[in-house]
Order: sequence, then structure tokens, then C-alpha cells
Amino acid sequence: MTRGDEGSTGGVATSGTDDREGKVGVERTRVVILDFGSQYTHLIARRIRECGVYSEVMRFDADPLEIARGTSAIVLSGGPSSIYDEGAPRPNPGIFGAGIPVLGICYGMQAMTEALGGTVAAGTTHEYGPMGFEPETGHPLFAGLDRQTQVWMSHGDEVVEPPPGFSVLGRSADGKVASIGNDAKRFYGLQFHPEVIHTERGKRVLENYLHEIAGIPSNWSPASFVGETIDAIRAEVGEGRVVCALSGGVDSSVMSVLLHKAIGDRLIPIFVDNGLLRKNEDRDVIERLREKLDLKVDIVDARERFLTGLAGVEDPERKRKIIGTEFIRVFEEEAKAQGDVEFLAQGTLYPDVIESVSVKGPSATIKSHHNVGGLPERMNLKLIEPLKTLFKDEVRKVGAELGIDADILGRHPFPGPGLAVRIVGDVTPERVAVLQEADAIAIEEIRNAGLYDDIWQAFVVLLPVRSVGVMGDERTYEHVVAVRAVHSLDGMTAHWFPMPHEVLERISTRIINEVRGVNRVCYDVSSKPPSTIEWE
Ligand code: XMP
Repeated sequence: MTRGDEGSTGGVATSGTDDREGKVGVERTRVVILDFGSQYTHLIARRIRECGVYSEVMRFDADPLEIARGTSAIVLSGGPSSIYDEGAPRPNPGIFGAGIPVLGICYGMQAMTEALGGTVAAGTTHEYGPMGFEPETGHPLFAGLDRQTQVWMSHGDEVVEPPPGFSVLGRSADGKVASIGNDAKRFYGLQFHPEVIHTERGKRVLENYLHEIAGIPSNWSPASFVGETIDAIRAEVGEGRVVCALSGGVDSSVMSVLLHKAIGDRLIPIFVDNGLLRKNEDRDVIERLREKLDLKVDIVDARERFLTGLAGVEDPERKRKIIGTEFIRVFEEEAKAQGDVEFLAQGTLYPDVIESVSVKGPSATIKSHHNVGGLPERMNLKLIEPLKTLFKDEVRKVGAELGIDADILGRHPFPGPGLAVRIVGDVTPERVAVLQEADAIAIEEIRNAGLYDDIWQAFVVLLPVRSVGVMGDERTYEHVVAVRAVHSLDGMTAHWFPMPHEVLERISTRIINEVRGVNRVCYDVSSKPPSTIEWE
């Protein structure tokens, strides 16, 4: 569904990460990353894909048979635990018997060391931040690196004795074991993080591991994704019909064009007006979709039922669940009215999967993104999520590959639950109207300043507080709004955008003058983490 505008990953993969599905998929060479809870796990996945190799994240304790299916290499991520912590996450030892190369990063190296009979000790000093690294010269894992290179460390525990059959392949500038390896088994460990940009030749080390050691060619690209995904959709859907939620955002547009290419008119795209859209969204969206994408779109006016369901609800998770359930009910009704519809397609992306399902290993669910965690338990339609293995920027590349216009692909993300998660507190038609006006002004000014394409996502949030102001000679007591704009690559991390003061001034002056009921504008200067992009 609409998560999508924004979304996630394409998932044609036969991933073992989500048992709701996994059928829209073909077997392909992949790298599996076992997640021990590191904040960098998604970065490992991204970097590997940037090397032209398809990668997927699974829980640290995934079943070895599931892990091994179609897999050419395994990576054990870092994590916040100490191997000595009670209940510390440990990989299933079966993964070391599958004949597949393994690369352990940071905690992953320590967990591998422990599992294979080496010794990990609590370090007397922590290594954190940039650090010199001296690789063993001539080892293929470090081909192309200088004798001294800078890496990024973040650990307390350390490997003091590698497991039998392993040797030390490199040390940090202060003499600690920073890399170990067993060439016969193709098992390697790195105490530093090759996935972060602060590690100078991190990408080269990953390339060496993938291409030279595991022998995986560079063969994953948006073009290969399109071909494979179309085949996979056809194989799964057969002669069936599919309803899909089309919001006009990037994800749902890309997904619809992909599905349309795969099954033609057996795709029924539905645009649901849930009353939580941006100003004029319905009109703009329908126009674009019909004209530019050549899609016939059914429009469903569901404003009343969504807003009634949300009345009086303040808890963000409850809002998400209510919206998720309501969306599915609308689709079930539409599917029934059309007769013979078996499937519902959603534009779920990989960050949703990583954040909402327990792929995060030991770390907790942050938000139930409505097209994943917010789904009701029981659904009469089978779900297909063709973008479920893609990051947002990859969706845009796939969209370009499909010939979708840059102005559709360049739209800022908009969350599936819409303005409901940008109205902190109770969602009422009046508050939606106030927010729509304020948001439209902010976006217009950002566009006028030529900044829209420099910003990953910008929007306005309506706060549940009122403040005192003075307008003319009158005292006012009105709403406060916050303007949010961030830089990001895939929504997993974000930094607040340094908006020029004159643009902030125009936004603020116009909102206060033109939007009745608002007398104060703030600018949100928080990054993710520790904040999130949306406020709820
Ligand atoms: P957060 O707030 O989790 O947002 O930092 C990361 C990105 O995801 C978008 N987002 C959603 N998209 N359904 C969606 O389709 C959702 O439930 C949802 N929640 C957040 C958010 O706009 C940002 O781009």
C-alpha cells in the first residue's frame, strides 16, 4: 500500500526474513548478513549491493538451512553486546559447517572466535573511532591496501587468541588483533567496520571478500532486478488478478509500473483517499498517474471511515494499526467488488522490513510501518511486495530503468499513515486542514528557493500545544507547528537540513499570516538517530 511512496526494498527475494511471504522470488546468488543488532547492519547490506552483489539481512539466529539457500557468502554484523553478557546473541554453529565463506565484523568476529574455540577477552582499553591498521601484506583480503591504513573501530572486547586453524592477518596501531583468517575454510574476521566511510579502504576490503575470496561476480543492478522481478511476479501471480495501492509516491508508482509490465490489465491500481493526504494530493496524483504512467486508476473515497476510526486516538502505534487495518479492509472490499482478485501488492521497502519485523536481531521494533507491522493478523488477500528488498535510492534507480519521469521519482517520501503521524495527538478534520495548509506553504517556499531536490524529505508537523501570540493588537492563543527537513540516503539515518535563514523566515511569515490557527513556527534540528524522521 501506500507506504510507499516512499519506501522500501524489492523483494523478490526468497528471503527468509519474513514468513508472511517470500514467494515472489527467484533464487539468486546472495550474501546473507546476520544481524547482531549493530546500527550499521543496513550499511553493510548497502555496501555489498554497491559492489553489484545482492544482499539480505536476517536475524542472528536464523536457521542455517534457510541461510544457506542460494547463498554464496555470510557476513556476521557487529552488535552492542559483549560475548560475555548474559543472553548475548550467538550464531547457530551450523553456519560454520555449510562450506560457505564467513566474514565476521567487530562483534561478529568475536562471536565467530568464541564459536570456533578461540579466546575473546574483555579489553583493558576500548578502541573507538579512527585507528591505524596494518594488514598482513599480500593477503588477498587486503589486496590494494597500503601497509598502513585508517579504519574505524568501536569495541571493548578483543580477540586474544584466534581459533585453531586461524592466523592473525592484521593488527591495530596499538598492537591489538584487528583481523584473523582461516584460508582453508574461507572464514575471516575484521575488528574494524569496513562498511562505514571512515574506514578508508573499507569498500575495497568488502570487494576483495566478495569477488576474490567468495568468488561472487558483480551481477546485481536495477536492470537485473527489473527482469528478475517481472519473471517472479508472473510466476507467482499466474493468471490471477492483483489490486495495488497507488499513492502517487515513488514506491507505489514504481511498483505499479513494474506490475503493469508483468501482468498488464490484470493489475487493478486503487487510489485511496483516506483524508490524511497532503493538500491537493488527490488531484495531483491522479493526474500524474493517469497521464504519465498510462494506468487506469480507481479512486476510493474513504475519508470518513479513516477519520472516524482515528477519532480520539493519540497513541502513535495505535494510529498506525488502525490505519493499516482500515487500508486492508478497503482493499478487501474493492477486491470483492471486482470479483476474482487474489492478491494485494504493497510498495514495502527494505528499511520497513528491517525496522518493523524482527530482522533487527536483538534490537527492538521502532515503529510499526503500516504496510508491514501495521497489517492485521487475518487478511483475505495474499500479499506480494515486489520492492521489499530495495532501499529507497535503489527504488529510484529501478524507476529510472522503467522509464518513469524524474519528477515522479524525485518526490519526497510520504509515509503510508499520512498526516496522522504528523499530527501529534488527536487527529481531527480541522487539524488535518491546518496542517495541509502549513505543509503546502513550506513545500512551496522550499521549491521556490530551488532546494526541493537538495532535501531528502521536508514537511510540517502539527503539535498538540498552543502558544500565546499577538496579532495586530489582539492576544492570540493558537497552534504551534514544526518544520522538518532532512538529508538522507535511504531514511535509515538522517541529518537535519541546514535551511537558509531567509527561507525559514519566508516559511514562518507565510504560515503565521496565512494559516488560521497557527501563531508559532519552530524548526526541528534533530538527526536520526537518536530521533526519527517522522515525529510519530
Ligand atoms: P522514520 O520516522 O521511521 O521514517 O525515521 C523513515 C522514513 O520512512 C517513512 N515512514 C513511513 N513510510 N509507512 C510508510 O510508507 C509508514 O508507516 C512510515 N513511517 C515512516 C518516513 O516518512 C521516512 O521517509
